[in-house]
Amino acid sequence: MADDGAAAGGHRSTAARRPLPGHGTGLLFGGDYNPEQWPEEVWAEDLRLMVEAGVTMVTVGVFSWARLEPAEGEYDLGWLDRVIDGLHGAGIAVDLATPSAGPPPWLSHTYPESLPVTSEGVRLGYGARESFCPSSPAYREAAARLADVLGRRYTRHPGVVMWHVGNEFGAHVGGCHCPQSAASFRRWLADRYGDVEKLNDAWGTAFWSQHYQSWAEITTPVRAPMPVNPAQQLDFARFTSDEYRACYEAERDVLRGHDPVRPITTNLMLSNCKHLDYWSWADSVDVVANDHYLIAESAVRHIDLALAADLSRSLHGGRPWILMEHSTSAVNWQPRNIAKVPGEMRRNALAHVARGSEGALFFQWRASRRGAEQFHSAMLPHGGTDTRIWREVCELGTDLARLGPVRGSRVVADIALYWDWQSWWATELEYRPVADLSYLERVLTTYTALWNDGHTVDVVGPAGDLAGYRVLVVPSAFLLRRETADRVAAWVAAGGQLLVCFFSGIVDESVTIHPEGFPGPLQTLLGLRVEEFHPLPTGEQVPLDDGSVADLWSEAVVTGTAEVVARFAGGPDEGQPALTRNRVGAGTAWYLATRLDPEHLRGVTRRVLAGAGITRRPDRPDGVEVVRRHGAEHRFTFVLNHTSEPVTLDEPGTDLLTGSTATATTVPAGGVAVLATPLHPDTAAPSREDVRR
Ligand code: GLA
Repeated sequence: MADDGAAAGGHRSTAARRPLPGHGTGLLFGGDYNPEQWPEEVWAEDLRLMVEAGVTMVTVGVFSWARLEPAEGEYDLGWLDRVIDGLHGAGIAVDLATPSAGPPPWLSHTYPESLPVTSEGVRLGYGARESFCPSSPAYREAAARLADVLGRRYTRHPGVVMWHVGNEFGAHVGGCHCPQSAASFRRWLADRYGDVEKLNDAWGTAFWSQHYQSWAEITTPVRAPMPVNPAQQLDFARFTSDEYRACYEAERDVLRGHDPVRPITTNLMLSNCKHLDYWSWADSVDVVANDHYLIAESAVRHIDLALAADLSRSLHGGRPWILMEHSTSAVNWQPRNIAKVPGEMRRNALAHVARGSEGALFFQWRASRRGAEQFHSAMLPHGGTDTRIWREVCELGTDLARLGPVRGSRVVADIALYWDWQSWWATELEYRPVADLSYLERVLTTYTALWNDGHTVDVVGPAGDLAGYRVLVVPSAFLLRRETADRVAAWVAAGGQLLVCFFSGIVDESVTIHPEGFPGPLQTLLGLRVEEFHPLPTGEQVPLDDGSVADLWSEAVVTGTAEVVARFAGGPDEGQPALTRNRVGAGTAWYLATRLDPEHLRGVTRRVLAGAGITRRPDRPDGVEVVRRHGAEHRFTFVLNHTSEPVTLDEPGTDLLTGSTATATTVPAGGVAVLATPLHPDTAAPSREDVRR
């Protein structure tokens, strides 16, 4: 297990992190509260209903800039004083946001250069939100000034327990191409390369006559007649992630200047925001706060949720994190905004808690009557309190109040799943062997194979610490740094069980193909080389000689030391290796050279895990999620029944949600149980053995 304070997926961290506040005796419960959308008479009702629902913390001020600073340098904080005082008086903690995600019209109007520009040269307008260029000095100065005003005013307020900077940095603008951004990009490149010839070398500018004579010639990757240099695109993505982080850190530092104590964070979008490399953000936030929304029409939406939660936990090496936003029911931004079915919201919230969240918050408290999100669900729906959603919200408040004992307990996993935002960026650039290879699809499908067998996994990144993990699954690592490959190889030699899937180890961090051919620095570890890729025509499937079915991808694998486990039984590589295994020291490195159907992929992950002695528990039916959190004195077993039948598990304990104690637990269809089992003093420390049970 990674140490306290280590960003497991990133690097060993020495960052001192302020812990997540507890409030009350239960877990945190609440959501975004936007009182400025309502007349003050409504606020008293808000407080009354929040107390009725058991709300313990709300996030205030996320989109309040125009109200807080109606004109440049003129502040109106009286209303916010009343809101925070009222909440505090009602016993509800405040996660106070800086409103920098919603620059007001006066700012965009006075400083039009603060508006972002697309790669096609279109300057985006205002009238929505996130209309700012992350490199704009006018925007940054204005945001920092307001953070200073808020920090000064509310640092000593006893109701404020946490700071929330901005909102989902980079969610809507994945990079700005204005002249200020281009100038910042050039400075960033000069810092990275020092000398323009080094950049020419890294970017391979000999290709298509792109050689740069000076920094001044370099632009952001604007729309061009053909795909822009891949290394340039990747550096721009890194730069964009860094620029947004710099915006966050500038405000954070202003707040920290006033408040040495409270945690400062921002809401991330782990697992579905492609624009930011969150491994590089891990040290910048005191607490990981994640927003997660279901893709309503996905049959595996609860598995996607589990992945996001595992990633949230893993960003800080297993430390407690917080689900900052999810929805009570439908969102408003999908093609069909399907409502959650009865009980689904509860399962969603408690699934996040099962995987380490210290509570469940929503967007938003009261549904907006006006504005672009008027059809987004909320804790208090348009229909008021005589509604299913309200009743379920109140029930969830009761559940979370009962789950106080799980606070601070940890999830422990001995299987690691590899995740790298930079490889995601590189995989989905133009002109790849197939255009429809989706990074998220590969990761989620592979994760699903593990989830379906009841395994709890941590997520690790390219600089992640593998010590203590018994299995590493790499669904996709097109971009793979040599040092990562070397560390993985050493870990395998020491006994690790590794599965690498096709089209991995192809390019380095400059999107340069590794000099030894495919799969680059993995060749020795996997005991093979790949001579040529043979993508399959759309819709074509090929069999393997073990009965599996594959599509999308076939390739010519030439084995060295690797043993062939299965061969292609059709298609361009008929008779050639499709699944191999290479013994390395005390470990094994498996390679899967194609995209298997999900069921057969599950067969492969089972074989790999079996090598580490990890098997599926036979008494867990499909669709029943069992996750454990380990506390100092108790083990907490979350059982989430996603099926339409009741399930009985041989799990003893006291269900914290009902108070009943039993030796076996029956969880109704769609229901949840959280079983507390006292730990024997000798086994009080979290153990991976326990997780596997
Ligand atoms: C994000 C934002 C919220 C809201 C929701 C809608 O999470 O942070 O302000 O727009 O999406 O789903």
